[in-house]
Amino acid sequence: MSKKDDQKSTQVWVDGCFDMVHFGHANAIRQAKQMGNYLIVGVHSDDEIAKHKGPPVFSEKERYKMVRAIKWVDEVVEDAPYVTTLEFLDKFNCDFCVHGDDITTTADGTDTYHLVKNAGRYKECRRTEGVSTTDIVGRMLLMTRTHHLGPEKINKDTVGAISQDHSTRSPWTGVSQFLPTTKKIIQFAEGKEPSPGDRIVYVAGAFDLFHVGHCDFLEKAAAEGDFVIVGLHTDQDVNHYKGANNPIMNLHERVLSVLACRYVSEVVIGAPYSVTADLMDHFKVDLVCHGKTPVMPDEDGSDPYAEPKRRHKFKILDSANDLTTQSIVERIIRNRLDYEARNKKKNEKELNIIKQLKNHKIA
Ligand code: CTP
Ligand code: C5P
Repeated sequence: MSKKDDQKSTQVWVDGCFDMVHFGHANAIRQAKQMGNYLIVGVHSDDEIAKHKGPPVFSEKERYKMVRAIKWVDEVVEDAPYVTTLEFLDKFNCDFCVHGDDITTTADGTDTYHLVKNAGRYKECRRTEGVSTTDIVGRMLLMTRTHHLGPEKINKDTVGAISQDHSTRSPWTGVSQFLPTTKKIIQFAEGKEPSPGDRIVYVAGAFDLFHVGHCDFLEKAAAEGDFVIVGLHTDQDVNHYKGANNPIMNLHERVLSVLACRYVSEVVIGAPYSVTADLMDHFKVDLVCHGKTPVMPDEDGSDPYAEPKRRHKFKILDSANDLTTQSIVERIIRNRLDYEARNKKKNEKELNIIKQLKNHKIA
């Protein structure tokens, strides 16, 4: 199992809950992959998460699939133990374990990585600031729109209203603003060009709260050709057709989540809502696809897929998955009290660890 073919190759282990997978998780996985040649990701079961953290938002089946779709993952180990053991590292031939530079504890407050740390088989990667499940759940529950705005505006007007003040907020999972940079996009993107003769598939959408329904759809789209281009609609367009505080994740955040998916070759950052002749010619698109979800007309009432249909280059794909961004929001709202309690507990636990670390430094 997971045998190293070459004794000189480095096999890396990462584990986690990966509940509501976001680009922060993908970035940890990306960094871990860079530390070796082969990356194994251990994902905890629902029971294990419920025991230590509270109920997960996504089922283990959904979480296993989401992690498998991240392009830097070579293998997923299901039902990995919450406390990482040396037995597991050895069983899967992993040299060491990687985790972000925050501290995770079990229900009784033990560091989940104490065994691998003591054995010198633990390395850290940099946690991605400004994104966490707690923050994303907060955006859904509070129905805020601040994530559509730039960081300057957020700091001035609204952070106080949507979160606690700095002294009561964990710097690890508390709300803060992600600062998108070109470096991050370069790190996530393949930068690949299609090869001559490649069949180009184009899909467009919001791809908000990038989820397992999107993964299933993109897997089907990838099977239709060789090079999948995803056109991401602007925040204004998504807000126009979805209303309320949508999109939950802004365009920069959605770009990273989609780029991390193994079925995607390229992303158009802010694609026109209607698939135009110009766009199809520019990218030499052979086929445009949409899933079975309803297609909203463009502002003037026209069909956004009229051009590919006219060219007989349009196909509806069945993702065989009925999960939608809206159903995720509804799931969260239904379980609001549980998630709020879970987030509060996590925040308090982290503040406590930070206090202990500070006391330890002073002493
Ligand atoms: N991680 C990260 N950056 C983030 C969030 C998570 O680097 N913004 C890393 C964690 O440090 C860990 C891995 O992703 O190494 C998987 O962690 P998991 O247990 O799923 O995540 P949490 O730390 O609980 O993340 P969140 O609060 O977002 O659920
Ligand atoms: O709704 P959104 O714009 O994010 O959808 C992007 C694409 O993914 C659309 O083509 C949609 O039909 C497809 N999709 C799917 N199955 C799902 C969710 C979305 O095929 N469960």
